[in-house]
Amino acid sequence: MKCGLLLLIFIAIKAVRTQWNVWMPRDISAMTNSCVVIPCSFMYPSGIRPYRGVHGIWYFGQPYPQLFPPVVFKSRTDIVHESYKGRTKLLGDLHQKNCTLKISNIGPEHSGKYYFRADLGGANIYTYPDFSELKVLDQPNVDVPDEIVSDDSLDLTCYAPDNCPDMTPEIHWMYTDYLPDPLFTADYLEDSNTAVISSTLTFTPKPMHHGQLIGCRVHYPNTTFVYEHLISLDIKYAPQTVWVNVSQEVMEGSSVVLHCEVDSNPVSRISWLFGEEELMSDTASNISLYMDDLDPTQEGIYTCVGDNGYGIMNTSMYLAVKYPPRDPWVNNSVTVLEGSSVHVHCKTQGNPVPTLTWLKDGELVGTIRADELSVLELLDLTPHGSGQYRCLAENEHGRSSSSLNITVEFAPVLLDESKCTVVREGVQCVCMATGNPEPVIEFYLPDLNITINETENRFNYYTHTDGHTSTGMIKLRDKSGQGTGIHVHCSITNIYGTETVQLELQQEKKYMMAVIVGTIGGVAVIAFIIAAVRYVGHSNKKENDNPGQDLVSKLENPSMFYSAVKKDKHSLRKKVGEEGDYQSVGSLAGFQRPELNYAALDFIRGRPREGRTGKEDDNSDYTEIKSK
Ligand SMILES: *[C@@H]1O[C@H](CO)[C@@H](O)[C@H](O)[C@H]1NC(C)=O
Ligand SMILES: *[C@@H]1O[C@H](CO)[C@@H](O)[C@H](O)[C@H]1NC(C)=O
Ligand SMILES: *[C@@H]1O[C@H](CO)[C@@H](O)[C@H](O)[C@H]1NC(C)=O
Ligand SMILES: *[C@@H]1O[C@H](CO)[C@@H](O)[C@H](O)[C@H]1NC(C)=O
Ligand SMILES: *[C@@H]1O[C@H](CO)[C@@H](O)[C@H](O)[C@H]1NC(C)=O
Ligand SMILES: *[C@@H]1O[C@H](CO)[C@@H](O)[C@H](O)[C@H]1NC(C)=O
Ligand SMILES: *[C@@H]1O[C@H](CO)[C@@H](O)[C@H](O)[C@H]1NC(C)=O
Ligand SMILES: *[C@@H]1O[C@H](CO)[C@@H](O)[C@H](O)[C@H]1NC(C)=O
Ligand SMILES: *[C@@H]1O[C@H](CO)[C@@H](O)[C@H](O)[C@H]1NC(C)=O
Repeated sequence: MKCGLLLLIFIAIKAVRTQWNVWMPRDISAMTNSCVVIPCSFMYPSGIRPYRGVHGIWYFGQPYPQLFPPVVFKSRTDIVHESYKGRTKLLGDLHQKNCTLKISNIGPEHSGKYYFRADLGGANIYTYPDFSELKVLDQPNVDVPDEIVSDDSLDLTCYAPDNCPDMTPEIHWMYTDYLPDPLFTADYLEDSNTAVISSTLTFTPKPMHHGQLIGCRVHYPNTTFVYEHLISLDIKYAPQTVWVNVSQEVMEGSSVVLHCEVDSNPVSRISWLFGEEELMSDTASNISLYMDDLDPTQEGIYTCVGDNGYGIMNTSMYLAVKYPPRDPWVNNSVTVLEGSSVHVHCKTQGNPVPTLTWLKDGELVGTIRADELSVLELLDLTPHGSGQYRCLAENEHGRSSSSLNITVEFAPVLLDESKCTVVREGVQCVCMATGNPEPVIEFYLPDLNITINETENRFNYYTHTDGHTSTGMIKLRDKSGQGTGIHVHCSITNIYGTETVQLELQQEKKYMMAVIVGTIGGVAVIAFIIAAVRYVGHSNKKENDNPGQDLVSKLENPSMFYSAVKKDKHSLRKKVGEEGDYQSVGSLAGFQRPELNYAALDFIRGRPREGRTGKEDDNSDYTEIKSK
């Protein structure tokens, strides 16, 4: 079986040698208007004796006459297809089995397959199936690499066929002036009896050369034939620039467009990043990030990244979101004991950072800070520290404030207005005290061993408070005429202590009554006076045996009145700490308060506490609490 196959192959080879055969280039090319010579040689079986010479025919397109292909050349006649008239010539000698054909002045219509048919006379006519395919070019071929990368050396090769013995082409490169150090290399290539000349341009392209034209020009000297092939350089390059908007300042609630443009080839995948978070991305030359209704959390660094596979580049910008100060947070209102210290906080946010100002009842306190937190330190608070504290936050975009109330509580303090005055019906004793919480006022008549208060409200007991100052009044009738026989004690009490003083009758100019009435003030006082007049009239009948009846004679001397001169200092206590242990502070004074003679002006001066803060040596009970 194997032997048989080998034998068959041997026979076939022998047959080829001696049978019909042709050699011509499979492909050949020529420039339009030039000429081409198709080299050709053929064989026919050695047994054939050509009858009346050897003839040949070149067909175009089809090998068989039955299909009526255009005749390119025919040795027996001059009749050829009209598109070849005067253009074809057989260069070879058919008797030498040389079928070389020249076609001149070629045009694009001559592109195609060319077949040779040998005519040896009689029936020995044979069309060889092998053919030569002619390509008629109107421009030279240029070899361009599939990918041209910036900064990599590039070879561009231009080819021109050189198959026309009459004319030899020349190759030039065009538009190379702007190229960096271009290098030109000429070459000549021969293959299957066809020839090509080439010129290779070598240079290193840069991103700036992307899109530029470069050309190969083929020219036949001493002719007007010129052929050009232009190419547009497609140079791949990593992102060269990533352009973004400059840093911006915008108001909260507004909208903004951030633009990013990347110069790269091919176009990059562009992404906008906020921190690590990718906000958007697209493959384009530019993208726009739209942001609506901005809030302060959107302030920060925005980075645009361009990545096209050849490289990565990024550029950042800062977006600042401005907003007016938020409503400040302040502590809740507090109530503290006098002498304590409190720290009140004010916290807010704003952009730019707001200034924080503390105002107490409209007046500036503390220092103005440019910060998001301001702590107001109130040390050793006095009753004056009570009030409304407002924290005002301001920046160039607006202002906002919040407030708290601080209430400073303190032990009761007797006011100078406390005194007994001779009035027409008898003696009127007034006891006034300030304190927080408001003090409760109680009178005690030691001679009668009687306590007068809200539950025991005899003697026209009247009490009134306006929230800070409490006023108590009683009216006594004195028939003895000896004012000194009447003793009236007044106790003022709140949760922080009790103070007891003895009110004494002292001299007074008549007009001082008006001062007292003015101090007490109000319709209630008028009502009281009316009630007091009625009461005195009533008690005149009822309490004839009272030691207070001596007061009646005192009415003849209206310039006398009682004032607070003796104090039971040991009764004044101050609450210390949470444990509720009360410590007597009166003993700390260590000495008896001297008797005071109040001049009329002293009453007008007002509360003793106003002098106290400025004077260390004023040993009022209130000061003694402070010194503790
Ligand atoms: C055929 O003829 C051409 C033109 O005369 C010649 O250049 C070529 O060498 C010949 N070929 C052979 C194989 O003799
Ligand atoms: C072109 O023509 C000139 C004279 O007209 C001649 O000297 C030169 O050799 C020719 N060149 C070619 C390539 O035929
Ligand atoms: C960013 O730049 C683009 C293009 O110049 C412009 O249209 C846009 O308004 C800019 N954005 C801002 C917030 O300025
Ligand atoms: C931005 O990209 C679009 C297409 O995505 C293009 O039409 C436009 O010209 C580009 N703008 C700029 C300034 O390059
Ligand atoms: C931007 O580029 C710098 C250096 O070129 C790099 O360190 C940084 O990580 C890049 N940032 C982003 C968000 O890609
Ligand atoms: C006010 O609030 C701050 C923070 O919560 C706190 O530290 C401070 O003690 C508070 N001050 C008062 C008086 O409550
Ligand atoms: C503070 O006190 C005033 C009245 O004195 C009151 O109108 C206001 O509401 C109080 N503010 C707070 C925060 O309690
Ligand atoms: C005063 O009266 C009370 C009863 O109301 C009595 O217990 C007390 O002993 C009396 N004091 C004097 C000094 O009379
Ligand atoms: C008034 O005084 C009486 C007698 O001392 C006493 O029992 C009563 O509790 C007092 N009332 C008030 C409201 O202080």
